[in-house]
Amino acid sequence: MSGRFDGKVAVVTGSGRAGGLGEGIARRLAAEGATVVISDIGAPADAATPGSMTGSSAEMDAIAASLPKASTFPCDVRNPEQVRALARHAVDTHGSLDIWVNNAGIGYIMKPMMEVSADEWRAVIDVNLTGAWYGLQAAAEIMIAQGKGGRVVNIASQAAKSGFMHAQAYTASKHGLVGLVRSASIELGAHGITVNNVCPNHVTTGLGKWQNEHFAEVQGISVEKYLANMAARIPMGRPGMPEDTAAAVAFLCSDEAIYITGESMNVSGGEEPH
Ligand SMILES: NC(=O)c1ccc[n+]([C@@H]2O[C@H](COP(=O)([O-])OP(=O)(O)OC[C@H]3O[C@@H](n4cnc5c(N)ncnc54)[C@H](O)[C@@H]3O)[C@@H](O)[C@H]2O)c1
Repeated sequence: MSGRFDGKVAVVTGSGRAGGLGEGIARRLAAEGATVVISDIGAPADAATPGSMTGSSAEMDAIAASLPKASTFPCDVRNPEQVRALARHAVDTHGSLDIWVNNAGIGYIMKPMMEVSADEWRAVIDVNLTGAWYGLQAAAEIMIAQGKGGRVVNIASQAAKSGFMHAQAYTASKHGLVGLVRSASIELGAHGITVNNVCPNHVTTGLGKWQNEHFAEVQGISVEKYLANMAARIPMGRPGMPEDTAAAVAFLCSDEAIYITGESMNVSGGEEPH
């Protein structure tokens, strides 16, 4: 397994937060030889917006410094110019762009649907869906010009397959990624570029932690009880871990996955069956 990504350059958006899925994905790609660009919004967490989950520059730098071959590049995925600059940074600094992972996401706006404002709806769609589209377009532009194929993976969610209360915008944004890869894969196949989603169920770190706390409160039970109930309904008997998602991303980015594109792969311990 070692060396599957030797000579490859990977960008992982939203990977500047310690303990998040992005960090796990970056570490897995790096462990198999990839040079990785650690990217995040680069602003300190906003105390006024609980769960906003913004990664600080210090965290980004620390993650990159712990990897064998890595650099950092702050990027707000809502800004298409910054996303294009991130893609160019990979080529200008490391000589290539082979793997692009749209991992950046927000999930802290969780409310009954009648309480969700238009601005809140747009905030979620802008990051989770439009941000992934900007990333896909920026990566594909360079990968097509390079002429050696490529891999784009979005971190979608179980919420790309099933509905969840208090999360209409989140669920709609993740369902949108299913349509995005289905249509983009048709245009990118001729260039040897695959585009897929990985759909994790609840992971207890990152924004999943916030969501678990919210649903436990809604149900009037402790987080421990909520997690125990979750484990009981998952065939594999436990919630997901960043490593589970990272392993699936690595597979989809590998040479073995050349004939897999337009797919939305569940990584849910059997919880999400379709
Ligand atoms: N944790 C889970 O249970 C779970 C389950 C399924 C899917 N996901 C998805 O996995 C991805 C990673 O989430 P996580 O759980 O690791 O949470 P996280 O909050 O640790 O990671 C999300 C990252 O995205 C960054 N980000 C937010 N807005 C951004 C923006 N505008 N531009 C650039 N970066 C931005 C944050 O700073 C953070 O580092 C998300 O897309 C999320 O929807 C998470």
